[in-house]
Amino acid sequence: MSLLDRQVLIVTGKGGVGKTAVAAAIGLAAAWSGRRALLVEIASEAHVAGLFGESGGAEPGKEVALHPNLTGLAIEPQQALEEYLTLALRVRALAERLADSRAFGYLTAAAPGLRELVTLGKIWHLTEQRTRDGERRHGLIVVDAPATGHGLALLRTPRAFLEIARAGRVHEESRAIAELVADQARTGIVLVTRAEEMPVSETLDTLERLRPLGLEARVLVVNALYPELVTGADRETLRTLVPAGETGQAAVRAARSHLARRDDQAGELGRLAAATSLPRVELPFLFRAGLDLDGVSELAAVLGPAFEELP
Ligand SMILES: Nc1ncnc2c1ncn2[C@@H]1O[C@H](COP(=O)(O)OP(=O)(O)OP(=O)(O)O)[C@@H](O)[C@H]1O
Ligand SMILES: [Mg+2]
Repeated sequence: MSLLDRQVLIVTGKGGVGKTAVAAAIGLAAAWSGRRALLVEIASEAHVAGLFGESGGAEPGKEVALHPNLTGLAIEPQQALEEYLTLALRVRALAERLADSRAFGYLTAAAPGLRELVTLGKIWHLTEQRTRDGERRHGLIVVDAPATGHGLALLRTPRAFLEIARAGRVHEESRAIAELVADQARTGIVLVTRAEEMPVSETLDTLERLRPLGLEARVLVVNALYPELVTGADRETLRTLVPAGETGQAAVRAARSHLARRDDQAGELGRLAAATSLPRVELPFLFRAGLDLDGVSELAAVLGPAFEELP
């Protein structure tokens, strides 16, 4: 079974490292391989649809076609929670209480993490959806999760609620969600980082924090690596080169600065390799303004075959 055969891949990592880009690339690679993929974004503002040139996909809760075999869905946690509570409370004829926003405030304050629980509950529900023929409606669900701090809260929540709600509906739902998140056959956690000091440190910290939750990342994606342009004897040549003319000097300065940055990245890759034996997928730095379908395709072309090979 390849990593792309999981039901859910949860993509998290430090803010700004490229989670959305990587989630989109995973979704696209899965779609290219013929799997029906759903790209779920957890946010109040949808970004993913824009990467695929879709302007109309920003409305939370509505599925939107992004590409052949690829659908997008934005889940807005607050909206998901309000929907859930309205449904749950209607059953108990308490819906009118909700009209009093203070009551609503008390409820969410009394149960922090309820928003996260309901968000994951929606994802669990998506894994359970069947077509009329009884087939799974979604092949692979890729979750563009919040940055690590909130992402960890998201992953921790179902277990926390098992203790808060010791019986009844919330307990049963929390159990189903916690089992889905922890089941490596169904769910994979994808940690995205860049080969820079802070993101690498946060990545190693996240690996530590997942362990007590009974969770483990399946793969590290190191995003935005510079190409190795200067190697071997050329490195020494570049170090000692004394070019004539201003243009030559500027070019040598640029090349040295590239080399220094590439070496910094190599150092951080070494730090990762020394600290964890998790498989690593390396993605290139894209020299283009902004990320669009072409850029996502470039990442997917590298990431797809690598994910296909991973168990
Ligand atoms: N491989 C890459 N090469 C060059 N730029 C990239 C690459 N991947 C992502 N970017 C750029 O880096 C920025 C952050 O990417 P992205 O939005 O995917 O990160 P994120 O982790 O989802 O951020 P946030 O934490 O804000 O959700 C964007 O401007 C994106 O275009
Ligand atoms: Mg993002």
